[in-house]
Amino acid sequence: MDRIIIKGGTPLYGEIPISGAKNACLALMPAALLTDEIVTLDNVPLLSDIQTMKELLLSLGCEVSSSENDRQLVLSASKISNFMAEYDIVRKMRASILVLGPLLARERRATVSLPGGCAIGARPVDIHLKALKAMGASLELRKGYIYAEAKEGLRGVEYDFPAVSVGATENIIMAATLAKGITTLKNCATEPEIVDLCKCLKSMGARIEGEGTSIVTIKGVNSLNGTSHSIIIDRIELGTYMLAPAIAGGAVLLRNCKLDLIKSFAEKLKETGAEVIENEKGLLVRGPESAINPTHICTSPYPGFPTDLQAQMMALLSLSSGKSVFEENIFENRFMHVPELNRMGAQIYVEGGVATVKGVKRLKGAPVMATDLRASVSLILAGLAAHGKTIINRVYHLDRGYESVEKKLSACGAKIKRIKG
Ligand code: UD1
Repeated sequence: MDRIIIKGGTPLYGEIPISGAKNACLALMPAALLTDEIVTLDNVPLLSDIQTMKELLLSLGCEVSSSENDRQLVLSASKISNFMAEYDIVRKMRASILVLGPLLARERRATVSLPGGCAIGARPVDIHLKALKAMGASLELRKGYIYAEAKEGLRGVEYDFPAVSVGATENIIMAATLAKGITTLKNCATEPEIVDLCKCLKSMGARIEGEGTSIVTIKGVNSLNGTSHSIIIDRIELGTYMLAPAIAGGAVLLRNCKLDLIKSFAEKLKETGAEVIENEKGLLVRGPESAINPTHICTSPYPGFPTDLQAQMMALLSLSSGKSVFEENIFENRFMHVPELNRMGAQIYVEGGVATVKGVKRLKGAPVMATDLRASVSLILAGLAAHGKTIINRVYHLDRGYESVEKKLSACGAKIKRIKG
């Protein structure tokens, strides 16, 4: 298993390129199941999660090829030969559930393994299933699988999601594009990745209105056509690298990136004393001149502070000049980075969904364990600032969502390397 070794204490200067959004790509790939024509995706990030989704689509009979150094994916679902998403793939990646809506809409049947819990919480898929049921699907849970069928096809419906869910919003929007009649979805998630998915679906001929707001209306059509779509940038990767000069010192340019994708996070970053400047080249972030100010973080659905940046922000605030409070409102078990940060000298106390961070003057390098995707990268950030050597084990978590992290950071002067094996 690969490890990452960081010798901390070097300020960062330079540019970091931001890849295409993993979470957008993971919804856009299943969207190709909605048409028998070719869907081409550009600005694809090179990540193991994308490989897993590729594997899943291949297992369903899709043709998938890559070009432009794997930055372009060409997907064809002209012949879907299998309707089952197997446990072995779904357990690796929960986003696999996103094939359910498209398969059911186009092929009128699908069998998808229940994803089960994951490191950061129970993460059920009940909301996806309730909405599909309202659209006329019959659903049966057997031996850990969801057996779904819509013999007469899905029908448009007015549906109020009982809670805001990114995945359910995506799955049901995709399902509704080929349903009979009009679907009105209320209490939708409004994440930019959903807007990007809808942009692609609309270019395939889907009739969607209101994406990016809490009410989305979809008028079902008989069939969709192929398209080419370029994936938006990864705002979570962007936020993570904005934190790198904030914690390690220095100044980094995130070329071609804009504030509007990441406003609530950028506001909080500025409160800590970091400078964030949007100019014609992109976003320039400079670490705080003196002390890092403490602040209060409350995660919430977009446009609120993203849960996917909570762990990374905590690494920064563990070095602040006072007490910070983190309220995690999306996932019930998303503080697994805390014991690892504490091993590096942080003073963080968790009670239920609240973590209190008492800032310390310095972190010290230590061997630590990556436990999930965002937790792993928070340890990288901590390692950049820590005195001495940090060794991060189990970096396969990191490779799910961060492309060439060691190359991107070492190009700015960080002393970071990957040890293979
Ligand atoms: C997506 C993102 C993930 C991000 C999360 C929240 C992808 C591939 N992943 O995950 O990176 O952290 O949004 O911004 O886009 N819930 C239910 N029942 C359901 C569905 C969700 O109870 O049927 C709960 C979840 O357990 C969680 C909350 O709703 O507590 C939000 O989850 P959701 O928005 O669905 O997250 P994902 O789409 O899985």
